[in-house]
Amino acid sequence: MYFPTYRPRRLRQSENFRRLVRETKVGVDDLIYPLFVVAGSGVKEEISAMPGNFHWSVDQVGEEAKEVEELGIPGVILFGIPEKKDEAGSGAYAEDGVIQQAVRAIKKSTADLLVITDVCLCEYTSHGHCGFVKEGKIVNDLTLELLSKAALSHAEAGADMVAPSDMMDGRVAVIRSTLDENGYQDIPIMAYAAKHASSFYGPFREAAESVPQFGDRKTYQMDSANALEALREVALDIEEGADIVMVKPALPCLDLIYRVKQEFGYPTAAYNVSGEYSMVKAAARQGWIDEKKVILEILTGIKRAGADIILTYHAKEVARWL
Ligand code: PBG
Repeated sequence: MYFPTYRPRRLRQSENFRRLVRETKVGVDDLIYPLFVVAGSGVKEEISAMPGNFHWSVDQVGEEAKEVEELGIPGVILFGIPEKKDEAGSGAYAEDGVIQQAVRAIKKSTADLLVITDVCLCEYTSHGHCGFVKEGKIVNDLTLELLSKAALSHAEAGADMVAPSDMMDGRVAVIRSTLDENGYQDIPIMAYAAKHASSFYGPFREAAESVPQFGDRKTYQMDSANALEALREVALDIEEGADIVMVKPALPCLDLIYRVKQEFGYPTAAYNVSGEYSMVKAAARQGWIDEKKVILEILTGIKRAGADIILTYHAKEVARWL
């Protein structure tokens, strides 16, 4: 009987063999933890569709960030839900906006945790869109000024990095030049470069109260069927000055993570989004999956595809396990 000389099972026969030849390791170094900041005080309220994640008021978020830092996670990304929303999303660039206050609070309570801010308008606009709306249309170029004001206000508050998530054309260039002109040339930009108009953002929109009041986001976020366009989007953002490029969502886009990393070789982030998180939590609650093993398998898959950085709501629990 013929046997091949190479038997792959030889190196699978014990955990120590498997450890020695393991190609991909997820570590706490890879993780960014998202935090939702709301107006008011004394608020720590669990987000119903995202168990284990909370709305924090500014006076509470510093302590939470400290815990994140103590777990060894390198950074947090902040999302703000303002007290009042308006047409132009003015809470996004208000000096005393929730995010601006939260950045200052976290900087006080932590040593060197990276404070990254999501730059977008949708949580701050009454219509829930990521841009300026005129006659029912999301107007690209009018939005750019508002986004650059938001990014600048985050930098002024002390943010370490800004992350535009709006998908307007040209926003990375405008944000880069605004930061540079104001002395913030050392603040990096992590661009949501290839961001699909995905249905996996549902729980986030509930958490951020940012469901569009009319229409959808398909005129600015990408069609999820497109990969070549995703590469063009990434190329554009790099040309405009992005330091880190992000693919979002993660699980339906593992091919894009792989291609973006291969083609550009830039630090590549993947956003393991709210819907991906909530599905795991829901199935685990039903006892249908082994939660811990599934989460680690998911993050390993995202990393194996090529991600250097994973934004994930699982970050804290994973940091405890590792
Ligand atoms: C803001 C923004 C969204 C997410 C990150 N930044 C929502 C959206 O684009 O509708 C989604 C994150 C998640 O689902 O976890 N534009």
